[in-house]
Amino acid sequence: MCTGLPRTACPLRLFALCIILSHAAAYFGLTGREPLVFLPGPFANEPPNSKAHLKQCEQMTLTRRQKRLCRREPGLAETLRESVRLSLLECRYQFRNERWNCSMDGRGSLLKRGFKETAFLLAVSSAALSHALAKACSSGRMERCTCDDSPGLQHREAWQWGVCGDNLKYSTKFLKKFLGQKRVSKDLRAQIDAHNINVGIRAVKSGLKTTCKCHGVSGSCAVRTCWKQLSPFQDTGHLLKYRYDMAVRVHSVTNSATGETELASPRRHSNTGPRPRPTELVFLEESPSFCRPSRYSPGTAGRQCSKDTSCSSLCCGRGYNTALHLTTLSCHCQVRWCCHVECQTCLREEEVYTCKKH
Ligand SMILES: *[C@@H]1O[C@H](CO)[C@@H](O)[C@H](O)[C@H]1NC(C)=O
Repeated sequence: MCTGLPRTACPLRLFALCIILSHAAAYFGLTGREPLVFLPGPFANEPPNSKAHLKQCEQMTLTRRQKRLCRREPGLAETLRESVRLSLLECRYQFRNERWNCSMDGRGSLLKRGFKETAFLLAVSSAALSHALAKACSSGRMERCTCDDSPGLQHREAWQWGVCGDNLKYSTKFLKKFLGQKRVSKDLRAQIDAHNINVGIRAVKSGLKTTCKCHGVSGSCAVRTCWKQLSPFQDTGHLLKYRYDMAVRVHSVTNSATGETELASPRRHSNTGPRPRPTELVFLEESPSFCRPSRYSPGTAGRQCSKDTSCSSLCCGRGYNTALHLTTLSCHCQVRWCCHVECQTCLREEEVYTCKKH
């Protein structure tokens, strides 16, 4: 975008970003062409065109009830798409060094099983949806919800001061309605899915922070307004990846008092008994190795790895190929007053390792 080409000027709008990028390029050997995946996507500023939103609702794979909700709430279609984008990027990023790299191939088969990866997919998807809905509320993209109702702050004031909070309460309520979770289900798989979906929603909630801003003559803080703000979605993704690493295997037990089927984990917690904690991701069966192509993943042949760390596990003992690549990188970056960064392009030789097929 702003580096990688010889002596490219950086637009003023992206000034800070370019500085960071050119520093990163200079210090970390980045090419400057890495996708800036975590920039917020394009937000539609105009009210959603009703015809377009109905069409978007039709195009998505939704149940009949979800389609009805989608049609009723202009802005939802866009929010759903945003949540898919968020969850996909975050999943790929968190699993970039794993044998299963969150590829789309095999995702359908994976979701039918009870692996750890299934648990992560459900949790990250529900978290992304919860996050995107709360953000859509506070940015005014959805008609039926508004700023969070922090005590002592009127909606009108919140909008006026530009401190609209992320409305997680609304988004969680809506999400439960949208996913249509039944309260008690006898089906073990349905219970596990519901549990993991809730782990995702909780992870977003745990990142909710209160932010305050002072108003008054020359920063006297005569009036202080506070509102709720979600942490960046990468933090949630990181937390869920940690939960994936610590996921516990569960089985079903019949509660002798109520006769109902419940989830039980081998670890006993003092406060929940054999039941898994509400923050733990749970799975039912051990995952395949993901080494070779299967109905769950394309395998690891051709995956790029790093010689000293990931190659041995990623290539599953098949070894790796070494190739020399020439890459360009930005160098000798200088800030020109005012306001752009100029860089030169340097060539660099780099060894690239990829997993063998056999
Ligand atoms: C995941 O691995 C597959 C198989 O090696 C590869 O084709 C694909 O591009 C990778 N996907 C991502 C997002 O890295």
